[in-house]
Amino acid sequence: MTESAFVHAYEVAGADFVNAGRASTAIKETLKHMGLAPALIRRVAIAAYEAEMNAVMYATRATMTLRVTPAAVTIDVRDEGPGIPDLALAMQEGYSTATAEMREMGFGAGMGLPNIRRNTDALDIASQVGRGTTVMMTVRVS
Ligand SMILES: Nc1ncnc2c1ncn2[C@@H]1O[C@H](COP(=O)(O)OP(=O)(O)OP(=O)(O)O)[C@@H](O)[C@H]1O
Ligand SMILES: [Mg+2]
Repeated sequence: MTESAFVHAYEVAGADFVNAGRASTAIKETLKHMGLAPALIRRVAIAAYEAEMNAVMYATRATMTLRVTPAAVTIDVRDEGPGIPDLALAMQEGYSTATAEMREMGFGAGMGLPNIRRNTDALDIASQVGRGTTVMMTVRVS
């Protein structure tokens, strides 16, 4: 049997720090309207925000696709960008290639990907150097 699913896609523009965070805010509002538990929404919102900011900071553009079923909330962030040459290194707390400008804006602690891992039930990252990165995140509803 096929579960009913809500699916929505959000576009994210690289280097657009003015609009950065809008997609994850929209996702959070959508989940609130659906009446999902605040603790679950909080986890999804943190993961979505970190993945969106990484797309803004490092990629040219990205599409974030939200999918909500009775069982889980999944978000795929598929970007066109430089890719991640060493995923294990990128996952380490404190590792960051953020520029001085990004650090001045408060980014670059190297905590985004570890935060995503901590707040999700499943995290898969597929990356091709010179092409882009896809971050697939799942938070189970129950
Ligand atoms: N979508 C992406 N494309 C290319 N590189 C990425 C992407 N996401 C993460 N990275 C690389 O992985 C590193 C670690 O990412 P992470 O989100 O953990 O930290 P950060 O973005 O550097 O700092 P913070 O998230 O704490 O502001 C980044 O500095 C960058 O080198
Ligand atoms: Mg980050």
